[in-house]
Amino acid sequence: MAEPSGHSSSSSIEIISKIKTGTIPKHIGVIMDGNGRWAALQSKPRIEGHKAGAETVNSMMDACLELEIPVVSLYAFSTENWRRPSFEIKALFDLLNLYITDKLPKMIQNGIRFIVSGDISKLPKKSQQLIEDGIEQTKKNKNLLTNFCLNYGSQDEILQAVQLLIEKRLEGFNEKDHIKDHYKKLTRKPKSKEFEKFLYTSKLPPVDLMIRTSGEHRVSNFLLYQAAYAEFYFTDVLWPDFDDVELYKSIIEFQKRDRRYGGLS
Ligand code: FPP
Repeated sequence: MAEPSGHSSSSSIEIISKIKTGTIPKHIGVIMDGNGRWAALQSKPRIEGHKAGAETVNSMMDACLELEIPVVSLYAFSTENWRRPSFEIKALFDLLNLYITDKLPKMIQNGIRFIVSGDISKLPKKSQQLIEDGIEQTKKNKNLLTNFCLNYGSQDEILQAVQLLIEKRLEGFNEKDHIKDHYKKLTRKPKSKEFEKFLYTSKLPPVDLMIRTSGEHRVSNFLLYQAAYAEFYFTDVLWPDFDDVELYKSIIEFQKRDRRYGGLS
């Protein structure tokens, strides 16, 4: 087990020592909720909550590196978040741009790979460029994979996967072929491996631990397929306050769970 970094508090050192080797989740999903309420509690505008939330993303990556968690998926902007006021949407993407610009050197230095799940073609052009550059510059990194979910919605992802799978199956058929001749092949129920190739997360392991902050107990269209056997951890802590100790607590709780995958212990 990795030692906590030099700046860790005594409580974080004490708690990290309780985390046993071997039962570290391979993929953590995080629904980062409560930025707005955190700001309101401090009589600050909502965007200040998002800024503080972005700093938490940063410390979360450090903690994941420390624990040797290989993959973390962060729900940063959902397909439903477009319903927010346009000034908040703009502020969120400005913050994302700043985040990538500021943190990319550190990601490169720490061997963090940056990928995105979601339809980024709807994002501001500047964000698209920074994302593509970030993906390219970190593509060989192996220490931690951070999957930023942007304009991501699980239902949309699944419907898109169905479409891509049908298109793939139709490839190679020419117009002269009678579709009836190929009916069986085209309508065969896909094996999960064939289907999963068309999800954004095709190269990622399934989610082991799903965390949602801020006291809400919902999945909110996040990684529905990938979290089929995830353990859920809900905490009242607001996202900007979710520090390394809070992450360690979630992992200790995860390690207490009896994962049966529908079988028996
Ligand atoms: C939910 O809080 C949070 C979001 C919709 C966006 C998540 C964004 C961040 C964590 C910051 C940006 C991240 C990066 C990497 C730039 P909310 O606004 O719904 O909070 P509330 O429920 O308290 O109003």
